[in-house]
Amino acid sequence: MRIPTGIEGFDELVQGGLLEERIYLVSGPPGSGKTTFGVQFLAHGAALGEVGLYVTLLESPQNIIDDMSNYAMNVPTLIKMKKLLFADLGPRMEYGYMDELHEVITPDYEVGHTSVEGEAPSPAVVFKEIAGYVAEYNIKRLVIDSVSAIRFTTKDLSLEEKEMSRFIRNLKRLGCTTILLSEMTDPNSYTTEQFASHGVVFLHNFLYDKTMTRALQVIKMRGTKHDCNMRGVHFTEKGIKVVDYLD
Ligand SMILES: Nc1ncnc2c1ncn2[C@@H]1O[C@H](COP(=O)(O)OP(=O)(O)OP(=O)(O)O)[C@@H](O)[C@H]1O
Ligand SMILES: [Mg+2]
Repeated sequence: MRIPTGIEGFDELVQGGLLEERIYLVSGPPGSGKTTFGVQFLAHGAALGEVGLYVTLLESPQNIIDDMSNYAMNVPTLIKMKKLLFADLGPRMEYGYMDELHEVITPDYEVGHTSVEGEAPSPAVVFKEIAGYVAEYNIKRLVIDSVSAIRFTTKDLSLEEKEMSRFIRNLKRLGCTTILLSEMTDPNSYTTEQFASHGVVFLHNFLYDKTMTRALQVIKMRGTKHDCNMRGVHFTEKGIKVVDYLD
């Protein structure tokens, strides 16, 4: 079944919406609209009665709630109705927090190499916390902001890729339609999460003919007919809106 994202101009690019219970990656440089895309997707579901969870790893949820409350997405109301939830899974301010958290990991995850100096939350910790929320609140739509914040949990690159791939495989079993947000540094260097996700969308923000231009590109969408060309993106009072092809 296709589920609408609620992002104006986007659903028609992907045959009406995202396939239910699949994992999508939305990647872009700073300020390209990743958070807006994610919150819009959750708010639309929440208005339809589907509970949404926004997991933050870098930013405090309060900042995101404040920023997104400027849009006509009814964020404060949906939060009050418990249809839209925010969970802060970033490193806590207190030192030693991650050490305590490591104690609750079950044996099927190895813990020795999962954190760089206790700063980055490991995929194992993030997954366990999310799984708890999904079970408790019957979450249908999930956004993780961002996977870039959890990928540097080991200095060993092959181990890192294995961890990310395991994280995504576990997420696929949760039964949520999930959007992973990621910071895009080089659009030409491919990452594990791009291969492991069912769909990949790039948000661009670049200098074009002397003006900064925003654009969206559907890079891949398994099981879906789409093109890969760039479309313009505008921010409106409702959030992101996808418009025509870029000339
Ligand atoms: N009310 C608004 N109207 C138009 N544009 C806005 C409005 N509010 C924010 N923006 C634009 O949206 C951008 C932020 O979007 P968003 O937070 O979704 O990006 P992001 O990709 O998540 O950024 P980051 O990488 O910092 O997390 C701002 O930099 C600004 O250009
Ligand atoms: Mg953001």
